Amino acid sequence: MRAITAFDTRDGLMAAASRRVSEALVLGIQARGSACAALSGGQTPEPAYRRLAHESVDWTRVTFALVDERFVQVDHPFSNEGMLRRSLRGAIGSGAALSPMFSPERTLEEAADLADAAYGALHFDVALLGMGADGHTASWFPGASGLAAAMDPASPRSVVAVRAPQAAGASERLTLTLAAIARADRVLLVITGEEKRSLLERAVDEPVTALFNSLPRPLEVLWAP
Ligand code: 6PG
Repeated sequence: MRAITAFDTRDGLMAAASRRVSEALVLGIQARGSACAALSGGQTPEPAYRRLAHESVDWTRVTFALVDERFVQVDHPFSNEGMLRRSLRGAIGSGAALSPMFSPERTLEEAADLADAAYGALHFDVALLGMGADGHTASWFPGASGLAAAMDPASPRSVVAVRAPQAAGASERLTLTLAAIARADRVLLVITGEEKRSLLERAVDEPVTALFNSLPRPLEVLWAP
């Protein structure tokens, strides 16, 4: 049985996720003078990000990174960067930086190389992941082209390009590699609903299982109905 911390309400879950990210950032600032959180897109964690922007953190010392990105312009409704900029407006307005994965006027592979160079230099104090109903996490979609490179635990890359025809929002994606997520000091998986919980409990070959099997420290799973 995989350890899952259950909350009675989504509000409680979002408050706990926000608190864990802010705690990790504060610890990172104490240890290194600056801190970085890698944050997923999708719909589930947005309320946690809105709360996070109001936590007591020295935002001038924080960089937000993305766990994955849809290959669309930032003002596109499906852009994860756009969602982060809106939900974290308070923190960014108080001095937090955001390191984009997307680059305009570049091919997907060029953008992956640029993001890889930038992200390779980041220390992730915390990474917050979601999970789709097919068992993907980050942009590690089952059957996607680029999946093996994304999930190679020995990959020297932090960011790779992925093409996943079934992916919601955009089939062309940029994603953190498993190797990059394994570097994070703390990894949270934030999910909601019975369907995702039972999928997670029975998952064997789905990409999300790599988080249980390949991280150097335990994955923290937070769930609410
Ligand atoms: C994305 C994601 C992705 C997401 C899951 C869950 O850009 O699509 O980062 O990995 O976390 O698909 O998405 P929901 O929270 O919307 O269900």
